[in-house]
Amino acid sequence: MGILHNDFSIDHVISSKQFSREALDAIFTGTDEVAAAFADRRQHTFSRALEGAVMASLFYEPSTRTRFSFESGMLRLGGRVIGTENAREFSSTVKGESLYDTIRVVNNYADIIVMRHNQQGAADLAASVSRVPIINAGDGKGEHPTQALLDLYTIRRCLGAIDGVHIAMVGDLRNGRTVRSLAQLLCNYRDVHITFVAPDDLQVLGDVKDYLSLRGVPYALTASLEAAFPSVDCVYMTRIQRERMTPEERSASAETDRLYSINADNVERLPERTLVLHPLPRNREIEEISKVDGRKNSVYLDDQVRSGLYVRAFLLKDLLS
Ligand code: NCD
Repeated sequence: MGILHNDFSIDHVISSKQFSREALDAIFTGTDEVAAAFADRRQHTFSRALEGAVMASLFYEPSTRTRFSFESGMLRLGGRVIGTENAREFSSTVKGESLYDTIRVVNNYADIIVMRHNQQGAADLAASVSRVPIINAGDGKGEHPTQALLDLYTIRRCLGAIDGVHIAMVGDLRNGRTVRSLAQLLCNYRDVHITFVAPDDLQVLGDVKDYLSLRGVPYALTASLEAAFPSVDCVYMTRIQRERMTPEERSASAETDRLYSINADNVERLPERTLVLHPLPRNREIEEISKVDGRKNSVYLDDQVRSGLYVRAFLLKDLLS
């Protein structure tokens, strides 16, 4: 029985709210084992763990890292992958097929389905009809739980612990699903503090604030990134989600990424020890690329990306065991 199968029958990964502290500890310990095994490509312990299993990746929205990391994880565990990277155009959706029918059908081809969808709630719907595990790889403005897991795994690896962490989340907090999932997941840790940095019109939504209050996690809202610099251990940058905006909202936030950026003017004021994370892709919110990328604690292009491979491979292994 894997860690994710328990009394609450969590055999789908849909929301970061479904994880307890115990489950997270077990997931991260298991992920450490996968990371250590993958270090030796030819001989690693789990290279045949998922032999004979098939993963379907069903992506209705663009993706590079999420799809590749799931697929790479599956292949490295000896499993196989089928999929469509542009399901909105290349699946039977164009012929009017419902998500319900697609999931019912793909259930007969695959042992697990990794799905990214443009509509919030789509992963829930898929899970309600699927006989095989569904992993939510992003549902519209909703959630991206495996991103939150890899973000926390990165913090744990780079800072040694997640308890006590003070994090600033920056950018389009209203439309970004990674922020919601990460904020919710952080509620499992002690002495966490979150500072949400955004202009008023892109500030984090009420449901996230309510959940933090319910779980007793203190947070602050501010429009000043630099004011947050001295007090935080991590800065979590996010891009403006232009594709999720109306034309009016898009023009209103045309300069927001430049205004809420780590750039030539402020990078020197960012303490060396501060971890900079970004789920990627990035736009102009990290402007002084050479200086910011070059910092020892800017981890978005390597450590954070590798964490994605390890965490997702662990989840596949666990859900399929
Ligand atoms: C994120 C997403 O899809 O929500 N990307 C990712 O999976 N790394 C972030 C984004 O698109 O801005």
